[in-house]
Order: sequence, then structure tokens, then C-alpha cells
Amino acid sequence: MAIQKHWHNDKALLGQSCPVHISDVLPAPCRHQAMETITGWSGYVPTPLRSLHGLAGEFGVSALCYKDESARFNLASFKALGGAYAVQSELRKVISEACGREIAMDQVDEHSGHTASVTVVTATDGNHGRSVAWGADRCGCRCVVYMHEQVSAGRQQAVEALGAQVQRVKGNYDDSVRQAQEDAKANGWLMVSDTSWPGYLEVPRTVMAGYTVMSSEAMEQWPFAEPPTHVFIQGGCGGLAGSVCLDMWCRLGDKKPRFIVVEPEPAACLYESACAGGIRGVDIQSESLMAGLSCGEVSHIAWPILERSVEDFLTMTDEPVAPLMRRLAQEESIVAGESAVAGLAGFTEAIGDQHLANRLGLSADSRILVFGTEGATDPVIYDTLVGC
Ligand SMILES: Cc1ncc(COP(=O)(O)O)c(C=O)c1O
Repeated sequence: MAIQKHWHNDKALLGQSCPVHISDVLPAPCRHQAMETITGWSGYVPTPLRSLHGLAGEFGVSALCYKDESARFNLASFKALGGAYAVQSELRKVISEACGREIAMDQVDEHSGHTASVTVVTATDGNHGRSVAWGADRCGCRCVVYMHEQVSAGRQQAVEALGAQVQRVKGNYDDSVRQAQEDAKANGWLMVSDTSWPGYLEVPRTVMAGYTVMSSEAMEQWPFAEPPTHVFIQGGCGGLAGSVCLDMWCRLGDKKPRFIVVEPEPAACLYESACAGGIRGVDIQSESLMAGLSCGEVSHIAWPILERSVEDFLTMTDEPVAPLMRRLAQEESIVAGESAVAGLAGFTEAIGDQHLANRLGLSADSRILVFGTEGATDPVIYDTLVGC
């Protein structure tokens, strides 16, 4: 059994619209600004929402839809929406201050005289760093990306190809975040992190606002009259899950689906926090194959959303990951990376266990939504696992 643990969260609010203190974590103007800016970027196209009829039939549910992020802005992951947008947004502030007047988001690239002297910095297990590097490249500033020792060479190359400098760090993702933060402080660099901690909330808020473009598209593309009943969403630091839950809750109100967070067993900081009734970290002892989800520390800005919106937290081994990647490739021609299939795997494993399926309220009437958050972000690892 790949699902290791399940926690039902009694603190989740049911049958009501999103309370203001939660929707205000990503206020509507902040989500609208992200939508307006990102949909205006050259090359923007909504990613497809794919109906997986074969899997839905096999598992006996009414619908199973997969939001396929594999071609997002040629960066191959939904993270393209967050880091790059936050870089533009932060640079807008820097330029506005230097000019003594507010400049618009779409004017940032006209001010290379100001942006050239700025260095943005971040830590990554691959995808967020690639997004920040792309944003820096687009806006003409310097970029340094910290990666821990287990991040693959392919993911380093993808970041370097965008002109960023990569700094390797001993330890795990959480160590790389700490090092990036220290060096940012010492050098006067602009930290553009996708995770947040006390005193550092605004940039990750902007990152999460960018992610809501993905859930907004998914809701517009949803092909049924009734909304999804269940959303299985993968968790790293929780920024992704937080933005999806908040955005969907604001849109669907008391019809919000049952949100189920799925995490790798060795990095289940959201699960641990739910059990403890407050933020808890995990000291990662082994790296999951789902590299993008291998975070031991919870994003502080995401937690208040998750605590009140997510009904269930699951932890899972890596076992179903490669077989599911292969199935998607062979049966649906979908390129799904290791972290992309976590939500889908949470569903297929849970429904295969009658007791758990009952506890999660899964039935023949269920309409499932999952987010395929990346494509072949490391083509060598992808080919090894999928075998093509
Ligand atoms: C492909 C992919 N999916 C999901 C996630 C999880 O996002 P978060 O850390 O915001 O929870 C990541 C994080 O890097 C990722 O790269």
C-alpha cells in the first residue's frame, strides 16, 4: 500500500463560503493583477485540462480531469507562473522607488538601466529556480539560484541555460533556503522565495497569486455543470495547495470540493502540521523521487488557508510514481514528471483501498480534479523512468 498515513482534519470549514480572513491571504485585487499581467506575457496560452476517461472508467468515478502543466511557457511546470511573476512585481517596486513614481507592471522591461544593477536570489529543487531565472532574464537583472546537493544536473542546466548562476549547498532544500536567505541579506540581493516564514510573507504571496492563473483556467475549462467533488493536490511547502484551495473556495463558495493534500512520506510537513494542530517541520532523512515535493518546512502564509480548507492529508511512498508516469505517456500521450503525478497517485491509491475510499467520500458520482504540475523537467530522469 503506497498510502502510508491519513489524517482527517476536523478544523476544515465545510458548507460555507471562504471567510474574509482567509480570502484576504491572497486578496482579489492581487489575484486579478496576476491574471492580467501573466495573460499579457508573450507566449501565454492556457494549458489544457484533459479528461482521463479510461482511468475514470477503470476506477469507477464519474469524471477525472488532469490539468496538464507540461508545456507552461516552455518551462514545463506551473512554477513558471509564480517566481517569474514575483520577479517582475518586485522589480516594479524597485524601479518605482528609483523613479519616484509608480510604474506599471508592463513597463518593467523598459527600465533596464535600473534592473541591471539588481540581483535576485532564490533556493530551489528545480522548478521555482527556473521560473525566477526566466523572470530575471526577461526583466534584465542578475540571478543566483541555490540548489542542494541532491538536485539533478539536468535541473541545474535548465536554470543555467536561462543565464542564472547556480550555487550548490550541502544538505537538503530547507538548508538551501537558509543559505540563500543569509547570502541575500549579506549582499543586498532580492530574495524571491516560493516559501515563507515569519517576517517574509509578501514575495511568496505574490508567487502564490501567480499560481491562481492555473486554477482559474481549470475552473473555466471544467466541462461539467457541477463542480469537482474532490481535488487531490500535491504538497511541498504548501504554496501550490494554498493557492489552489483559496482560489477554488472563493469561486465555488459552499460548493467547495473536498481538498486532499498528498505528500511524500519523508517530507510530510503539512501532514505533521495538521496532526499537531499548528505548523511543524520535518527533518528530511531521505529524498523522495518527487523532488519538487521534498520540502520539510511549511510555508507560513499557506498554512492558515490549508488548515481551514483541506479535509484530508495523505502521505505516500514513491512506488506508484513511475508506473503512473508510464501510463499517462502510453495511454494519454501526457508527459508527466515525477511531482506531477502525486495528486493523481493519491487518488488511484486511495480508491483502491475500500476503507480509505469510504473515508474520503469517493463514490461512482465523484468528479475528481488533479493538477499535473510538471512535464519532463529533467528529461534524463523522465526517460529513465518512462523508458522512451
Ligand atoms: C512540479 C511541482 N509540483 C508541486 C510542487 C509543490 O509546490 P509547493 O512547494 O508550493 O507546495 C512543486 C514545488 O517545487 C513542483 O516543482
